[in-house]
Amino acid sequence: MEYIYGKVALVVGASSGMGKACAEYLKKHGYIVYGTSRKAIFPDSLTKNREGTIQMIPLDVTQEKSIKEAIDYIVKNEGQINILLNCAGYALGGAVEDISNDEAHEIFDTNFFGMMSVIRHVLPIMRKQNKGLIVNISSVAGFIALPFQSMYSATKYAVEAMTECLRMEVKPFGIKVSIIEPGDIKTNFTSSRKTAKAALINPAYKERHKKAVETMIKDELNGPGPQIVVKAFAKILNSKNPPVRIVVGFKYKCVALLKRILPSRVVEHVLEKIY
Ligand SMILES: NC(=O)c1ccc[n+]([C@@H]2O[C@H](COP(=O)([O-])OP(=O)(O)OC[C@H]3O[C@@H](n4cnc5c(N)ncnc54)[C@H](OP(=O)(O)O)[C@@H]3O)[C@@H](O)[C@H]2O)c1
Repeated sequence: MEYIYGKVALVVGASSGMGKACAEYLKKHGYIVYGTSRKAIFPDSLTKNREGTIQMIPLDVTQEKSIKEAIDYIVKNEGQINILLNCAGYALGGAVEDISNDEAHEIFDTNFFGMMSVIRHVLPIMRKQNKGLIVNISSVAGFIALPFQSMYSATKYAVEAMTECLRMEVKPFGIKVSIIEPGDIKTNFTSSRKTAKAALINPAYKERHKKAVETMIKDELNGPGPQIVVKAFAKILNSKNPPVRIVVGFKYKCVALLKRILPSRVVEHVLEKIY
């Protein structure tokens, strides 16, 4: 196996779902993997030969101090970070009118600003190495905004924009950047979904919100497991010139194409019918 970007990988949000599955893939292929969870603690000591291992360490993307500590820890032990996979994220349900500023800020702090902070901490290390790979998990919701998921979609649209810019900015430093856009995947994402407080009581949207989220939950629970995302990640990892984005799954590739070619009103009509 060729380690195009090097052997040291940081997977942010590796305690479950896509992050965990990708961390396992990296481990299986001999990488030195640092996975993160808010619940993890720094180990007392590390094994000497860390190739093909996953070391779980604490990291909360909403806390600058926590990000710095995690990254300093890896650099202290490995002297480098070659691959960064950003998976931390959750969904928030509710109509725009029902989402408080605090709830909106909270989801942006995790899904967008958290990702951005981690990247900001890792970039100086990758620039020094003159190589690196950053993969950001976005979503199909990053190019199709779903009703009653406005803030989630907004965070993912923001991830898309930031990632596209970043990709061009860091190219001269040998750092490659890609986006993965999964559709519905069966993970802890469903049980971690939050609901805006007002959405539980405001009769104006209550029934439609409930119906839309029930449809999303059903699709997630009937979706494929995270291995399908691992495939997309592996494709990027093993490419010297990775694509800007990979939409995960044939169905969602078709959805992406239709979104591009159909008039916006038609797309809206279809989404209203589904949700
Ligand atoms: N599942 C889907 O249908 C789907 C579809 C499209 C996109 N996505 C995106 O895929 C990514 C991964 O989600 P998943 O489906 O694998 O869900 P998951 O199983 O719930 O995993 C989410 C991960 O994010 C971590 N996390 C959450 N908040 C964090 C924070 N503040 N700081 C650090 N880590 C945090 C969690 O770790 P701890 O709780 O242990 O800290 C966990 O490891 C997310 O960005 C999600 O938006 C999911």
